[in-house]
Amino acid sequence: MSKWFYLNFGLFVIAVWKIIGHALHTTLTPSIWIGFMGLAFFLFNWTRHAVFSTIRSHPRRETKIRLARISKKVVPYHRYMGTTALLLVVIHAVSMFYRYGFVSRWPKMWMGLIAAIILLFMVLSGWLRLFWPSVKKRYLHIYLGMLLFFLIFIHIIL
Ligand code: HEM
Ligand code: HEM
Repeated sequence: MSKWFYLNFGLFVIAVWKIIGHALHTTLTPSIWIGFMGLAFFLFNWTRHAVFSTIRSHPRRETKIRLARISKKVVPYHRYMGTTALLLVVIHAVSMFYRYGFVSRWPKMWMGLIAAIILLFMVLSGWLRLFWPSVKKRYLHIYLGMLLFFLIFIHIIL
């Protein structure tokens, strides 16, 4: 199984842990929930990379076929899930600005902002890839996804 399954699951668990922390020690506002939903939509799409890596490396043919079937079923939703992730993150960011303003001394704000910008490019590269596919765009889409994963990870642990 690809290491990305474990990394994705790990990030999800850390985010759930943070949400529980907010519920117990601070206030769990809708803006936090919306950020969490943005993360969930991102992870849903990013798991495609884990699935594709496993299909390439798994020794058992039956497992490869099963994963390829699941992956095919999800294809029609991929573009909408990704675009919705961006929409949710924008709402999350705007409501954070309303709540706190832009606090430039707060690294969490900067990391969130950088992650949101990369997510915008991720979604753009996806739509461009859909209409005008190329190898360069394919790699751009994958590398932006990896970068985004680590930026979101830092944003959440900060
Ligand atoms: C891909 C982009 C983003 C994702 C997936 C995301 C996700 C999340 C999640 C799940 C939380 C709740 C857990 C925690 O406290 O760490 C959170 C909190 C937070 N996010 Fe984001 N976020 C993103 C972008 C942004 C942006 C652009 C901003 C604003 C500049 C921002 C500002 C914040 C702030 C200030 C908190 C803490 C809220 C509090 O403690 O009251 N985030 N984010
Ligand atoms: C959260 C945002 C997104 C993430 C994390 C993401 C991630 C991925 C991943 C991991 C793959 C498989 C990479 C490969 O080996 O080729 C992929 C493929 C693809 N993505 Fe995205 N994507 C996102 C948004 C979008 C959007 C908005 C579109 C818009 C059309 C899109 C279009 C595509 C296309 C056309 C493919 C290739 C066909 C396929 O395998 O389904 N992506 N994406």
